[in-house]
This record gives sequence, structure tokens and C-alpha cells, in this order.
Amino acid sequence: MHTIRLIYSSDAREDLRYRDFMAIMDTAAVTNEERAITGMLCYGGGRFLQALEGERLSVNALYNHIVKDPRHTNCQLLSVEEITARDFAEWSMKVVDWNDAVTAARQTVLLKHSGSRLFNPAQMSGQQAAAFLRDLAEMERQLSD
Ligand SMILES: Cc1cc2nc3c(=O)[nH]c(=O)nc-3n(C[C@H](O)[C@H](O)[C@H](O)COP(=O)(O)O)c2cc1C
Repeated sequence: MHTIRLIYSSDAREDLRYRDFMAIMDTAAVTNEERAITGMLCYGGGRFLQALEGERLSVNALYNHIVKDPRHTNCQLLSVEEITARDFAEWSMKVVDWNDAVTAARQTVLLKHSGSRLFNPAQMSGQQAAAFLRDLAEMERQLSD
């Protein structure tokens, strides 16, 4: 068994409503739980950045499924790596709405890991995307403490 982390970016279909999307993700979280998949998804300005962690076969199967989902396009694989520990072990899928209250702290995290103040994950390297999501997760943990 090999555990991997896969990170990709994509563009939301234009008429996708955040509320509808959250409904999909509620279901997805249950499925992920069953498959021992954990991760984080950041959504902002019509763009997605998602990390999927889990057993290699399960992550590949899920990613191949997600890529075909008509609710988004332009899936771009940013990184796939074998990992010894998960970054998002406590969440079957943590969703962060970037549009919602972009705080100064979040902006700093974005700028730390990208060349722009705009959330545009397709422009990030795999390493930048991984570090950005890790820092974002840390902020979410502090918020829920
Ligand atoms: C950006 C995005 C991220 C998604 N992430 C997940 C996920 O983490 N887990 C999951 O089961 N489905 C996820 N989905 C939904 C799947 O593409 C798919 O709709 C879901 O697995 C149900 O599959 P089914 O319609 O074949 O039953 C995501 C969809 C989108 C657009």
C-alpha cells in the first residue's frame, strides 16, 4: 500500500452556485470517508485547488472520476507524490471558500506561495500549491481551536 497526495487545479463551470457545490461536497465527504481519502479544497473566483490524499489506487480512481465531472473544466495536475504522512488527516474534505472573508492573514499566505495577490492556482507550481494548502489548513485549525 502506497499513500499519495495528488493536487490539481480546475475552473468551475460558470453557472455553478456555491450552494450547489457545497451539496456535492457533503456527499463527497461521506464517500471519501469510506475510501479513507482526506484532503482540502479551496474555491475562489471560479477556480478550484484540491488536494486528495490516500491509498494510490483510491486516489487515482477518484481523480479520474472528478476529471470527468462536467461541473468544472481545465483540470490541471499540479503534483503527485508519495507521502509518509498526510497533511489533512482530520478532514475527509475540508472546503475553504476563498471568496468568503479574504482576511489579511489569508492574503499573506497566498502571496507567500504565489506570484500574485489573485487566487489563481493554475499558475502555482506543485510545491507552491502544496505549501499554500498546508498553511491554509493550519489557519483553519487555529480558527477552530
Ligand atoms: C471540484 C470538484 C471536487 C470534487 N471532489 C470530490 C471528492 O473529493 N470526493 C468525491 O467523492 N467526489 C468529488 N467530486 C464529485 C465527483 O466528481 C462525483 O460527482 C462524485 O464522486 C459522485 O459520483 P457519481 O455521480 O458518479 O455517483 C468533486 C467534484 C468537483 C467538481
